[in-house]
Amino acid sequence: MKDWIGNGKSVFVCNGASNHSDEEREKDDYYATEPKAIYKLCEVEKFTPTVWECACGDGQMVKVLNEMGYEVVASDIVDRGCPNTVIADFLKTVTNHNLDIITNPPYKYAKEFVEHALDISADGNKVAMFLKLTFLESKSRKALFEKYPPKKVWVFSERVLCAKNGDFEKYKSSGATAVAYAWFIWEKGYKGETTIGWI
Ligand SMILES: C[S@@+](CC[C@H](N)C(=O)[O-])C[C@H]1O[C@@H](n2cnc3c(N)ncnc32)[C@H](O)[C@@H]1O
Repeated sequence: MKDWIGNGKSVFVCNGASNHSDEEREKDDYYATEPKAIYKLCEVEKFTPTVWECACGDGQMVKVLNEMGYEVVASDIVDRGCPNTVIADFLKTVTNHNLDIITNPPYKYAKEFVEHALDISADGNKVAMFLKLTFLESKSRKALFEKYPPKKVWVFSERVLCAKNGDFEKYKSSGATAVAYAWFIWEKGYKGETTIGWI
């Protein structure tokens, strides 16, 4: 385990709340993403040869990205067992090292993750965030979209599982796929219209 930026001992507490049904939200918002979400992303988007998964959890996305030929810098505020996890509070990092950023952020801080990722990115770098479709709504996010218009929103044509604590079996057996997700793609500096596609 590496302490990349020297703030790896930061305490971070996320106070529940959300539409993840009636269950209490996992501390630090740990919901692992079903691999097909990343396979689908890689069918439609290309990234820098090395990418940064800045909230890597146990490495669900990292594994697939490696399989698709990408080197991955993996970091998280908690070590959840992803090999070579750098312990870092992403919101306190200061540079993206010219890497494209790909993650499923903690939903409670999704807007902050998007804004911070773009703030620290160089022009032309991509930021790909796996977010609820409802991220398109709300006044505060409207302001974010005016500052940083997404280049593309890839809407899933079928539901994708996000499993609390990585327990996919539990979710598969209960069929709990109530939430619609999309990949939101930003390219730093892009000021054009946002287009929508379906994957
Ligand atoms: C929704 S989970 C996604 C995990 C992984 N990206 C995936 O798709 O399987 C969000 C992750 O964000 C991490 N996290 C929460 N706050 C963070 C922060 N400030 N900086 C870095 N990681 C954070 C949590 O520990 C958790 O592993």
